[in-house]
Amino acid sequence: MCQQSFFTGVKACMFDAYGTLFDFNSAVSRHRGRLGSAADSVSALWRTKQLEYTWLRSLMGRHADFWQVTQDALDYALEAAAVSDLELRNAIVNTYLELDCYPDVKGTLEKLKAGGLQLVILSNGTPAMLEAAVKSSGLTDLINGILSVEEVGIYKPDPRVYGLAVDRLGLQAKQIAFMSANSWDAVGAANYGLRVAWVNRFGQRRERLPSQPDLEINSLAYLPTLLGVDA
Ligand code: LAC
Repeated sequence: MCQQSFFTGVKACMFDAYGTLFDFNSAVSRHRGRLGSAADSVSALWRTKQLEYTWLRSLMGRHADFWQVTQDALDYALEAAAVSDLELRNAIVNTYLELDCYPDVKGTLEKLKAGGLQLVILSNGTPAMLEAAVKSSGLTDLINGILSVEEVGIYKPDPRVYGLAVDRLGLQAKQIAFMSANSWDAVGAANYGLRVAWVNRFGQRRERLPSQPDLEINSLAYLPTLLGVDA
């Protein structure tokens, strides 16, 4: 698909949070000294389990919010690494409320906002988690709205999550461009009918799932030019 047609008629740019705006590895990175050589494996398993638990809970019909799921997943990852320091565990969890954003985020959002686009987050995170991350990474003045799966009580990639955006923004699906670095989230949004740019930050392979993102980029920094707002 050509890039120009991807963005024609787009009224809002909507972003996934964790992995797309906020660097989930930055929580563990800040405690690298205390975790030592286990740091990278803890961070990777924490993220893997966090996502698995969202999918499993959705299939089981046993929703718990992302703050709970995030802590359950960290407990699994720490146990797997034989780390039993409760004070360290609590410190790592709290860092999830103060994640760093990726280097391409702030400048990109500033240009998109100056170009008159509405900027919204759609995430598995709870409103409190997302508000904390937006604030700590200095994005408060740039984000127009935060949409959380808590409003529908099920996780991505359930179509009701993406439908929430259409309802709340009062736009048609094709007027919303959704950006996610999570390949399965990009697929889920495309499956719903949003316009989707997969921000393939991690050089991953294309998912073998029905529906594909309209566009693949490796950095958010391409967006202002693609949207014609790069002053
Ligand atoms: C989110 C997860 C998918 O922010 O990273 O929704």
